[in-house]
Amino acid sequence: MSKSKLIFITGATKGIGRATAFTFAKAGWDLILLARNFKELEKLKNELIGFDVKVNICNCDLSDDEIIESSISKLLKDFGCPSVVLNNAGFAYNGELITMPLKTVAKNHSS
Ligand SMILES: NC(=O)c1ccc[n+]([C@@H]2O[C@H](COP(=O)([O-])OP(=O)(O)OC[C@H]3O[C@@H](n4cnc5c(N)ncnc54)[C@H](OP(=O)(O)O)[C@@H]3O)[C@@H](O)[C@H]2O)c1
Repeated sequence: MSKSKLIFITGATKGIGRATAFTFAKAGWDLILLARNFKELEKLKNELIGFDVKVNICNCDLSDDEIIESSISKLLKDFGCPSVVLNNAGFAYNGELITMPLKTVAKNHSS
């Protein structure tokens, strides 16, 4: 098993992913942070500057089958193999699926 303290977090810019990024940064772990919005990733990277860790960012839409493989292969080549993966990207809706407004679906399927 890899002894590197490197965690790969998908859906890193908000909610659970963002909180996990700060928790692991505080514990001295290097980070690979993935989400679709590059500006949000850059903003998060800047917020993590105070921690003495490497912060690598990648904007990728994990709903796009065609780019996932090349993007993840490049990440592994550039930053090495993470010892922890938090595959957390997605969105949550509190309520029955049948009541979910279409605009909520649309919002979460656009970058
Ligand atoms: N919060 C809850 O109560 C709850 C309950 C059950 C399950 N969950 C699950 O836990 C995960 C995180 O929930 P959360 O509430 O922390 O979500 P959130 O605050 O909405 O954050 C979602 C994160 O995922 C990224 N993301 C969304 N779609 C993506 C895509 N196609 N490709 C790459 N990145 C994508 C978003 O950034 P971009 O928009 O920039 O891509 C964002 O960083 C979700 O999978 C959710 O279904 C949450």
